[in-house]
Amino acid sequence: MLQHQKIVVIGGSSGIGLETAKQAAALGAEVIIASRSKAKLQKAKAELGPTASSYTLDTTQEQEVKSFFETVGRFDHLVVSAAETSGGPFLQTDTAKARQLFDNKFWGQYYAAKYGAPNIAPNGSITLFSGVVAYKSMIGSSVLGAVNAAVANLGQTLALELAPLRVNLVSPGIIDTPSRSQMPEEARNQFYDTIASKLPVKRVGKAEDVAQSVLYLIQNGFVTGTVLHVDGGHILT
Ligand SMILES: NC(=O)c1ccc[n+]([C@@H]2O[C@H](COP(=O)([O-])OP(=O)(O)OC[C@H]3O[C@@H](n4cnc5c(N)ncnc54)[C@H](OP(=O)(O)O)[C@@H]3O)[C@@H](O)[C@H]2O)c1
Repeated sequence: MLQHQKIVVIGGSSGIGLETAKQAAALGAEVIIASRSKAKLQKAKAELGPTASSYTLDTTQEQEVKSFFETVGRFDHLVVSAAETSGGPFLQTDTAKARQLFDNKFWGQYYAAKYGAPNIAPNGSITLFSGVVAYKSMIGSSVLGAVNAAVANLGQTLALELAPLRVNLVSPGIIDTPSRSQMPEEARNQFYDTIASKLPVKRVGKAEDVAQSVLYLIQNGFVTGTVLHVDGGHILT
């Protein structure tokens, strides 16, 4: 149970982050969610109930991240699922777009760990997000794969440097979340069906699958420096 535990979920207004916040709240935690969009935060807060609080925050802005943690003060566990990702053929991808991916998913998590860690209880934890394309190369994911690998390496080194604070990583496979809401429905379903047919579990993931793993990493005091693959066996294919 997570009574009297304060959990900060950056990226908690959607998808895996929102589901993590819901599962943590159901276990009695006080949940704080943060992301950029006020509208998404409002909707998420309505789903989470009155004990949750929300803050607007853009993790690409170092000073914003610093002030956010000054406002939040002491807490127990940090989860950073915030990311906006994209892919495309290496030779046709603008360098600026590639840098944006690093700004958002790598530097965002870097700032969160840097300014969040000093406020976390010594028996607390940080969970960062990598992703399957760091471990299973896929055409069109050169930059995202590099970002995910960089985050995993950062997190594992922090597990040593920030000890006794525990630092772990989740590496989701293909998960059906609002992150693909811009894709036309038919193309999205086709993509999910193709992936599902290749996976040992014969389905793509749900936000709940990954959230369960985050809750495990938060609660198991003997796990640190781990990359937990929640991908339906994707890296074996
Ligand atoms: N879904 C998948 O198939 C999959 C696969 C591998 C890895 N992952 C990883 O899993 C994590 C969660 O993904 P998801 O599928 O749950 O995505 P999602 O549903 O799109 O949620 C992403 C969250 O991040 C927030 N966010 C994005 N950029 C931000 C920024 N600069 N500052 C603050 N908040 C920001 C978004 O809210 P705002 O728009 O309000 O900022 C939203 O709450 C990500 O790290 C993603 O790369 C997902």
